[in-house]
Amino acid sequence: MALEPHSFMSTMATRISFTTEDKALLQSRADWGANIAPDMADHFYAFLGRDAEMSAILNGSEGRIHRLRETFVQWFEEMFTGMDNWGNDYADRRWRIGLIHVRIGIGPQHVVPAMAAVVQEASKRLQAEGQPEALRDALSKICMIDLAFIEQAYIEVSSAAVLRETGWTEGLFKRLITTGAGAM
Ligand code: HEM
Repeated sequence: MALEPHSFMSTMATRISFTTEDKALLQSRADWGANIAPDMADHFYAFLGRDAEMSAILNGSEGRIHRLRETFVQWFEEMFTGMDNWGNDYADRRWRIGLIHVRIGIGPQHVVPAMAAVVQEASKRLQAEGQPEALRDALSKICMIDLAFIEQAYIEVSSAAVLRETGWTEGLFKRLITTGAGAM
């Protein structure tokens, strides 16, 4: 059941049609992405801060907000540069981000609205600054790939933990889930 980040990256890129044109467009606008990244970080943390539960997580330890602001800016810029052309380094980095969120207990109910807020705000900036619509599409696609990494990490880590603790086989575990869902 363990996820292999490199093949997951290419599967997701194919599934969402993240094309070479999308990549080239993002890279050609990397400076623009870097310019708006600090504003996007402000918007992002203001959004999270409005929710009592997320705000408590954000302020859960000393200096966390400060660190997060920096890592968010870097994350946002990487969506435009693609690091190693959205290759293995990119995939490893996204997988690690997913694992960190699982460790802190941040689930889909937190991450999905947060990513929607990023896409929405970035779209507004794109439109206001006359950037092409194709850039919005490309950025939305890579945001969804990044989102899939964080969400999948949640499933993979939970499943692996159950299998390890119980000694169940993967087949049995899947059957239990299917049966459980049927009974709900
Ligand atoms: C669009 C969704 C999100 C993105 C792209 C994102 C991005 C990141 C990144 C890049 C890191 C740093 C990982 C590292 O150290 O390698 C991080 C860590 C973290 N994120 Fe998120 N995040 C998202 C959603 C959330 C949400 C919804 C919360 C909940 C409040 C959250 C809270 C945190 C916390 C607490 C850390 C660890 C900070 C620390 O103590 O170093 N994130 N995030």
